Amino acid sequence: MIMGTGSGIPDKILTNFDLEKMVDTSDEWIKERSGIERRHVLEDGKTNSDMALMASQRALKNAGVSAKELDAIIIGTVTPDSPFPSTACRLQAKLGAVNAAAFDLSAACSGFLYGLTLADGIISSGKGKHILVIGSEVLTRFTDWEDRTTCVLFGDGAGAVVVGPSDGKKGILSTYIKSDGRLGDLLYMSAGGASIPPSHESVDQRLHYIKMKGREVFKHAVRSMADAALHSLKESGHRREDIDLLITHQANVRIIDAIAKRLKLPKDKVFVNIQEYGNTSAASIPIALDQANQEGYVKDGSLCLLVAFGGGFTWGSCMVQF
Ligand code: ACO
Repeated sequence: MIMGTGSGIPDKILTNFDLEKMVDTSDEWIKERSGIERRHVLEDGKTNSDMALMASQRALKNAGVSAKELDAIIIGTVTPDSPFPSTACRLQAKLGAVNAAAFDLSAACSGFLYGLTLADGIISSGKGKHILVIGSEVLTRFTDWEDRTTCVLFGDGAGAVVVGPSDGKKGILSTYIKSDGRLGDLLYMSAGGASIPPSHESVDQRLHYIKMKGREVFKHAVRSMADAALHSLKESGHRREDIDLLITHQANVRIIDAIAKRLKLPKDKVFVNIQEYGNTSAASIPIALDQANQEGYVKDGSLCLLVAFGGGFTWGSCMVQF
């Protein structure tokens, strides 16, 4: 079960009006096409594990679990502090979670749901009792601020949950994860790894930035997330009308609306906070879940459907009873 939630959001805000001064765009275009009004940007000198620390401390407090009780720390991220040690190991040191195994998980925007699936498996197999699952991203450090087709979309942030053993009916009822590597060229960052290590040329060619074929990604995102949502409904034995809250990856409000329409869910059952944060990749679902929890949208007994989609392509869903 999800025992507690937390988030770590940078204070600095970049509005659509700020972006109007940087590239050829407008507040009207960004709002209409994506639903985004502003995004949070991590301050210079701070890094991914700093945001993850804030989210984790809040989630642990909310769950009533100490850092020393953690058996594992899993961070879904594509923007780690450095290739190694993992951001999860850096976080482990900052938290003092001395008994945990810590590792990063690379599944782009689906990283948090992949992590939740792993945590559920570890707990079900009896290999661990308390697992911290985090989505944390500093996408703005890999955003091409000269490319208006991508730079208006992304933001920074971290969200965390503490997962523990099921308690009666409460718990993770079903998880589903999928990927299709044949579609990797629609959304990627080509340099910085072993195939194109950092060099003057790779920097000059702007290869260290996120590239995306937005229109194609959009279509796949709607189809895959709707399929994943239906899969979780079937596997957990629920009907659409049983769902209390749908939280999808916050990439575009039009994608979220299209999924809600396919599931025939009314607007008041669909959580949307993209206007405030933009697309924070793996962090978007745990940030939304924490906000929903803090603001009382998630209550004891609430049935929550989480659905993600991201680069890879990767996608998945998870049915949770609170
Ligand atoms: N401001 C003004 N005009 C713009 C901007 C901008 N920021 N960006 C693009 N345009 C223009 C284009 O050049 C194009 O002009 P043209 O018709 O003259 O060629 C026009 O607007 C329409 O562009 P489209 O790309 O067709 O716009 P679309 O409605 O598809 O919206 C968007 C673009 C917002 C990127 C959308 O396609 C989208 O959200 N895609 C999915 C993103 C996503 O789901 N990502 C998921 C994972 S992210 C991750 O893994 C990190």
